[in-house]
Amino acid sequence: MILVVSHLHEPSVNGVVRGLEARGAPWARVNTEEFPLFRAGRIVLDGAEPYGLIETDRGRVDTRAVSAVWMRRAARPAVPRGFRPKDKGFIVDEASAFLHGFLDLVGGVFVNPREAERRARKVPQLALARRCGFTVPRTLVTNDAQAVRAFVAEAAGPVVFKPLSGVTSGGADFARALEQRFGEAVEVEPESAQATGTAELVFSQILTPERAAQLDALRYAPVIFQDYVEKAFDVRITYVAGRIFACRIHSQEAGDTAVDFRRMALRPRVEDVRHALFDPPAALAEGIDAFMRAAGLVFGCLDFVETPDGDFVFLEVNPSGQWLWIEQLTGAPITAALVDALCA
Ligand SMILES: Nc1ncnc2c1ncn2[C@@H]1O[C@H](COP(=O)(O)OP(=O)(O)OP(=O)(O)O)[C@@H](O)[C@H]1O
Ligand SMILES: [Mg+2]
Repeated sequence: MILVVSHLHEPSVNGVVRGLEARGAPWARVNTEEFPLFRAGRIVLDGAEPYGLIETDRGRVDTRAVSAVWMRRAARPAVPRGFRPKDKGFIVDEASAFLHGFLDLVGGVFVNPREAERRARKVPQLALARRCGFTVPRTLVTNDAQAVRAFVAEAAGPVVFKPLSGVTSGGADFARALEQRFGEAVEVEPESAQATGTAELVFSQILTPERAAQLDALRYAPVIFQDYVEKAFDVRITYVAGRIFACRIHSQEAGDTAVDFRRMALRPRVEDVRHALFDPPAALAEGIDAFMRAAGLVFGCLDFVETPDGDFVFLEVNPSGQWLWIEQLTGAPITAALVDALCA
């Protein structure tokens, strides 16, 4: 039994599930926003081997029957309208503790192991990348404007800034979806700005003199500053259990995508930005494999800059990054590789 732990709106789940179906692999899907309000679960310690049960669309899943878990962007549980924030917080914490306790009882493969996913934060991953032999841009994370001015004074070229937490747009309204799905009298609170699609993607930007004049705003939130790396291409690596799909994104062919390739998402047609698979040089492939093993990650989307000299500079790994657009534009069989990893 392969257990998918995600939420109702995660676009990559359907393809993976179709892949599992095609292999005849038994699977079930837990949408985390549905527990506990719409789904019953239990964890039983009664003297014998402990186990957990949880309801899904495909029947009740028993931890003892699960051979692999694919965790993909869990959402917070739905909470009925009208609960006080304090009570809502209690529900969220208890539901999360239950799900973790449930998953703690599962043996087998986790994509990704939860501890590895938690550890894959911006700062430690830059440190690990450096230890694995990658070039990493000179970086400062701070809320201290004075420190930034000193960092800029030392820079050989432009400096880029970007958020530390990497807010991404959600686009999902779980409340409406849950009401439609369960047709219940329970009205659920929209979960968060992220869940209702009002969160914004904050792009990497060059620190121009006009923006540098606003550095006092740093007191409200720390920010990452980095030497801007001149690019021939942005490179997106999708790593799946030892397999590497390397894609060059021709982001320098137009002004809008030059600094941050993700701005292509604002275009009417993403496919106008050229994407091309390439064979990564052996040293890059070996470095990525060593990095991912050291990070304990089975799956991840890594961003590199390929410089005009053909060097690769590490920017980040996102352990639950998107890959569907790469698969659609290049034909890289990423979903199939993930299905392989889950069925192994
Ligand atoms: N130091 C840099 N030099 C050149 N370009 C950069 C640099 N840092 C970021 N970028 C550009 O901005 C993009 C996003 O940056 P990065 O992946 O580091 O941040 P993020 O906000 O965490 O992204 P994600 O949403 O993928 O987690 C990069 O893929 C690249 O195109
Ligand atoms: Mg990125």
